Amino acid sequence: MSQRVSCDSCGRTFPVASPLAQCPCGGLLGVTQTPAETGAALRRRFDARVGADPAVQGSGVWRYRELLLSGRGPIVAHPEGNTRLYRRDALARYVGVADLQIKHEGENPTGSFKDRGMTVAVTHAVRTGATAVACASTGNTSASMAAYAANAALPALVFVPAGKVSAGKLAQALAYNARTLLVRGDFDACLRLVREASSALGIALLNSINPWRVEGQKTIVWELLQQRGWDPPDWIVVPAGNLGNTSAFGKALRELKELGVLRRLPRLAAIQAAGASPFFKSYRTGFKRRFTMNAETVATAIRIGDPASYDRGVRAIRDTRGVVAAVGDRAILEAKAAVDAAGIGCEPASAASIAGLRQLVARGVVKPGQSVVAVLTGHVLKDSQTVMDWHLGKGRGRNRPVEIEARVSAVEKLLRR
Ligand code: F0G
Repeated sequence: MSQRVSCDSCGRTFPVASPLAQCPCGGLLGVTQTPAETGAALRRRFDARVGADPAVQGSGVWRYRELLLSGRGPIVAHPEGNTRLYRRDALARYVGVADLQIKHEGENPTGSFKDRGMTVAVTHAVRTGATAVACASTGNTSASMAAYAANAALPALVFVPAGKVSAGKLAQALAYNARTLLVRGDFDACLRLVREASSALGIALLNSINPWRVEGQKTIVWELLQQRGWDPPDWIVVPAGNLGNTSAFGKALRELKELGVLRRLPRLAAIQAAGASPFFKSYRTGFKRRFTMNAETVATAIRIGDPASYDRGVRAIRDTRGVVAAVGDRAILEAKAAVDAAGIGCEPASAASIAGLRQLVARGVVKPGQSVVAVLTGHVLKDSQTVMDWHLGKGRGRNRPVEIEARVSAVEKLLRR
């Protein structure tokens, strides 16, 4: 197998062993994969590893190593991946398609899909001699990086927007011992800062602009397809913020088509929060104009106004005849309540995929007879404050807790009501 790293902007190429996370010209680096096997042979190789020793062989990420990172050396894995694909009638009815599957990436070791990209990027950082790692984050990337850095005994530096990260995510960064900087500014300011600071200080940058993060995140798509016996659904729906995941999904599908593993590509639907929807605004102009905005949404994970992987996001949508939609905070919270009440649970940003799918069905873009896999990106406990605010708030469908005296009669009285 062979791999090539090159810059999207200036075309310069680098060896796989290069420690660079971004091109000196400022452009994004990407990996071109040329595995030795293709088509059915590749499928058989991946299928043979299912259920094997999960540490590496059967890992939901490293199972696909021919299409990730070549070369020898240690692998920094928890391990990760092997997340479940659920069916729930209540949710299928809620969104309006009969054939709905839910891929829950909140089941990764630190509670979000970020672990899939992080295992590859931290492995690459270790192999190329990194002495410290850094990222900007709305919370999940920092939680994941902090855990993987601790696993590899690397110092970690985290930049997060002060006051705009959920307590659970911030707690993870602290717990895993990352040096945590609360930046007075939004995520976009944090990312600009860390891009400059990591270059200046020689620290490995592990945001999703890092090409190896993208490689790892491709495995969400491969794994869901493998779980379906390589039968592609009509649609894959994913929440979109910085567009790292949208880009990775596009690349995964492109490669699987080029390598003859898939004949037909699912269409991608990328869903943004209305208050953080620069990509959606661009989509509405046919991607003729690029927008940025001051982002604000209850879904703090995707509170991003200037997505770094914009161009790759555009390519992912174009290549898959995809669509972009935006949903309001109210729709996100209602969809989250539906996911939670189905016994699955997710954080607010994840529910954007369900809210977006519901909207796309209502608008006739997704047909009730089509098959859909919706991706949930983060665990319900990532943002418990939003859960409490919702259930202690006013309105239908709330589940208010009741305080009682410690007596059976009090329980009886309550149940009689
Ligand atoms: N869902 C969750 C739970 C996220 O944490 C993120 C991004 C996304 C969706 C969007 O993915 O940025 O690749 O388009 N979180 C990043 C972070 C920004 O710092 O944790 P994206």
